[in-house]
Amino acid sequence: MRRILIDADTGIDDSIAILYALKSRNLHVEGITTCFGNSGAAQSADNCLRLIRLSRCGYEVPVVVGAECTLDGQVETAPAHIHGENGIGNVILPESARKPLEMDAADFILRKAEELDGELVIVTTGRLTNLARALEKDPRLPGKVKRVVTMGGCMDVPGNVSPVAEANIYGDARAADMVFRAGFHMILVGLDVTTKTFITEKELDDAERYCSEESRDAVAYIREALKLYFEYHRLSEGMVHRSFVHDPLALLIAEDASLGEYKMLRAGVEYQAPAFRGMILTDGRFRGEMDHDEIAVCVRVDADRAVRRLFSVFH
Ligand code: BDR
Ligand code: CA
Repeated sequence: MRRILIDADTGIDDSIAILYALKSRNLHVEGITTCFGNSGAAQSADNCLRLIRLSRCGYEVPVVVGAECTLDGQVETAPAHIHGENGIGNVILPESARKPLEMDAADFILRKAEELDGELVIVTTGRLTNLARALEKDPRLPGKVKRVVTMGGCMDVPGNVSPVAEANIYGDARAADMVFRAGFHMILVGLDVTTKTFITEKELDDAERYCSEESRDAVAYIREALKLYFEYHRLSEGMVHRSFVHDPLALLIAEDASLGEYKMLRAGVEYQAPAFRGMILTDGRFRGEMDHDEIAVCVRVDADRAVRRLFSVFH
């Protein structure tokens, strides 16, 4: 059983990732911290509480509201035509009786890392602001967690917010640079692989047909929320009745890294030159004593196996 903490900007694909994690028997969600991005951090936390209720996961999951702006105080949220006014495709899920934990998100991450004594896996599906703030408070954090798995970045494919940058990395590039260079055992799941992985109407039809009674509401929610996301993919990519699989892929890889192939690279993020903001810079020169600085960049994925597994938890 992997013990994970999810840090999310709970949009449509984040929400599918979160439902997957809550449903998977191989994962235990120790908590969710939220960040601005697809919507505000408080809205994201409210979405998380509703998703936890919808999942019927059978255990309590603390939710903590995190950063509402970048490390440098900028607030930029995604336009509503991507994830809807509320981040989850304008779907109104039943309210939760629970409230977010009144605690600083960085402190929550540090507390969980201590508590789990090296076992915690942190999966980020939004900006890296909360994790960077945790690092500022405790630079020894990388030695206290098992791994960080991050959805973000693009290496050999174009970005989705600029020719060189992906949204989560661009959205707080200085935070991303701090996290990349902090010495975490880190896996980066970027556009190179998430744009090779698709959810189509077929997966949704099959999910509806084969889901358990207990998962029927969750599958209905996914279908409804994806309407807007499919439309966004049609307008921006010319894709018909399908979407990329960004955030769920990070969760799937956190659970089973054998879904991907990796290249070890020393990497940082440009955050000063405006035209290159969010671009990942790599250094492939061999320097044995710096091996611990390398991160594992996912360069290939078994997309069919990943998508099959994604929907299998609803059966
Ligand atoms: C990332 O940006 C967000 O809109 C998605 O939720 C995903 O985390 C993809 O670039
Ligand atoms: Ca996200």
